[in-house]
Amino acid sequence: MVDLHPQPSGIDPAAEIPRARAIDESLGFLLDGYTFGRRRFRRLGTDVFTTRLAGRRATVMYGAEAARIFYEGDRFSRDRAMPTSVLHLLQDEGSVQTLEGDEHRHRKTLFMQMLEPASVERLVQAFDAEWTRAVAERGGRTVSLYDLAVETLTVAAAAWCGIPGGAVDLSRLSGDLAAMVDRAASFGPPNWIARARRRKAESDLEALVEDVRSGALDVQPGTPLHRIAEATDADGDRLPASVAAVELLNVLRPVVAVSRFLVFAAHALHHHPEWRRPVAADPDVAVRFANEVRRRYPFFPIIAGTVQRAFTWRGRAFRPGEWVILDLYATNHDVRSWSAPARFLPRRFEGWNGDPNTLIPQGGGDLATGHRCPGEAATIALTARFARRIAADDPFSVPKQDLRISLRRIPALPQDRFRVTFRS
Ligand code: HEM
Repeated sequence: MVDLHPQPSGIDPAAEIPRARAIDESLGFLLDGYTFGRRRFRRLGTDVFTTRLAGRRATVMYGAEAARIFYEGDRFSRDRAMPTSVLHLLQDEGSVQTLEGDEHRHRKTLFMQMLEPASVERLVQAFDAEWTRAVAERGGRTVSLYDLAVETLTVAAAAWCGIPGGAVDLSRLSGDLAAMVDRAASFGPPNWIARARRRKAESDLEALVEDVRSGALDVQPGTPLHRIAEATDADGDRLPASVAAVELLNVLRPVVAVSRFLVFAAHALHHHPEWRRPVAADPDVAVRFANEVRRRYPFFPIIAGTVQRAFTWRGRAFRPGEWVILDLYATNHDVRSWSAPARFLPRRFEGWNGDPNTLIPQGGGDLATGHRCPGEAATIALTARFARRIAADDPFSVPKQDLRISLRRIPALPQDRFRVTFRS
């Protein structure tokens, strides 16, 4: 992974917010990828700057203080915050992420119930069983670990959601879900094709929701599919079936997206074999390892919001409608919060203070009241369990290949998708 020198720690919070040099930085963002913010923060000696992206004025910021401003105090909405090419592949209209206030809190509670600890444990067990089956089938074969992780997580996610076997075509769904994440940052035909695939997946899931509601499909109460089919809005009205389908997708898609962290966990164990034994032996060490994977490796580069409540920060008035971008990747590598941020050091999480705004690969602030990801505990649990399994079982060798991870490509993956050869 190409790494920049750490950002300056001596930032003057009283200084005026500088402007980036170029008139419009859209090309800079495409070229620099994950390092877009960090290059400019460093060049300007700041943790916040203004610029233009796609012709729109934007303020870009990073760090724990910026994350607190962004995530706490209801200052931001997600209204017009993301390009439609991204929104339609990730959360989509009508989803929890596009809501604010009471409606958001009500919908968020649904997600938190679906992802409470016992439910996360059921998901992890479904994944564990599917992984055991997948390994047994692949003896002697060389495959892309990324593709295998996508397939395995799709089967596990569908079973955990309560989708009856045969009700959907899992191999097609798996390709559709992976494409939604892989193509979120692309433009033109690749993005349109992924959007068409998403619309088809949405309509299949909508039919599933209708079948649960009509009683044509018998689904176990308490499963995510059952909860979503029965869910109401803040006024007590049932969610439209199309919105329920979007939310079901908002559970399935990100579980499958955890595949990237599984690959990164395997990549980290490959490069730091001294962690094999401790990770295999101790579940707490495996959790610290998973957190360092989430901090160190690139996934969501940024998150954008629109000011909904005026506030002043760094001597500047932020007015409703302004576009602000929080750099998640730079915050996870901020030298003010993490010593030697470029190094992979799971030990840094021993006795960690748990500040909600420093480790923010899945958003910051408060889970219940803000937009922080409700799937964080599930992501950590799946990544930790996977790391433990491969550290303990040593099921594959890693053939010679290009293991570099380009920070210019969003979302990132090792160049050769991490090919592995399963032992016979
Ligand atoms: C692959 C690992 C994951 C990453 C990198 C990730 C990343 C994120 C980020 C950055 C946000 C914050 C968006 C914002 O501030 O507007 C978010 C929100 C969200 N995530 Fe995740 N996520 C992951 C896994 C999951 C899982 C496993 C689930 C559910 C099973 C999930 C469901 C959601 C939902 C529903 C939201 C919207 C929350 C809201 O607006 O209140 N995510 N995720």
